[in-house]
Amino acid sequence: MTVTVRVPAKVNVQLAVGAARPDGFHDLANVFLAVGLYDEVTVTEADELRVTCAGPDAAQVPLDRTNLAARAALALAERHGREARVHIHIDKDIPVAGGMAGGSADGAGALAACDALWGTGACREELLDICAELGSDVPFSLVGGAALGTGRGERLRELEVGGTFHWVFAAADGGLSTPAVYREFDRLNEGVRVPEPAASRDLLDALAKGDVHALAATLSNDLQPAALSLRPSLAETLTAGREAGALAGLVSGSGPTTAFLAADAGAAAEVARALRASGTCRTARVAQAPAAGATVV
Ligand code: C5P
Repeated sequence: MTVTVRVPAKVNVQLAVGAARPDGFHDLANVFLAVGLYDEVTVTEADELRVTCAGPDAAQVPLDRTNLAARAALALAERHGREARVHIHIDKDIPVAGGMAGGSADGAGALAACDALWGTGACREELLDICAELGSDVPFSLVGGAALGTGRGERLRELEVGGTFHWVFAAADGGLSTPAVYREFDRLNEGVRVPEPAASRDLLDALAKGDVHALAATLSNDLQPAALSLRPSLAETLTAGREAGALAGLVSGSGPTTAFLAADAGAAAEVARALRASGTCRTARVAQAPAAGATVV
């Protein structure tokens, strides 16, 4: 038997980052929005756990037990007293190490797929618990839509979204390490009193109303200065996107993917075309939001 699950990428429309905690993590007010770029995770019964990956960035995906998809299968199997004898195949379309939660998507996808394959009957709470153990962004990949993540980002409150938003994502050459970006955030904020992270009321209203202009005016990412410090060339991509007519642009999560909000589908297509021609990014793609979370197909 085989089960395939489709899982979306995410953009953080607000990423408010607090001071480093004693455990090294940072408290967040993290407003996630799932976007219509997807990985597909297919699980098939096999003699032993095995991971394969296909897609343009496949060579950069680890196929050992550090892969979040493998870890998800092992965690679910352990809880249900069975062995993770599955072949996990990832059809990867989400940029790798790009700040769009591609690895988290594969973890959530493998978890949902193994749950269906094995008929474990795990409730949603249990699946979300396992997701939170796997990583801060993994619970959101399971849920999709839009949500406010607090704690280290894993405690979710689902949010209303009152319309469709048109985005453009510019992929950069090479990835950025999330821990390295957080370390750079700490370095840039040394000696500064970092305020408690809080969600912006105006931003949540803009999402709820589906008001693209209000959302563009309130997008923010506290990790952006750190990502730009590590990868200064991203400033040129941001300028190119804005000059091409994007209402706003920002670094997606810890980067280096940059995200641009466009007024409508036509404007998004034009921004993507201009970004590709600008020579400031590897490629540019359009995608709509919100997108559904992990879904068996
Ligand atoms: O939870 P996840 O494994 O995705 O986190 C990757 C790294 O990002 C952590 O090891 C930590 O360095 C950083 N991080 C953080 N604060 C968060 C989330 C992630 O410092 N809230």
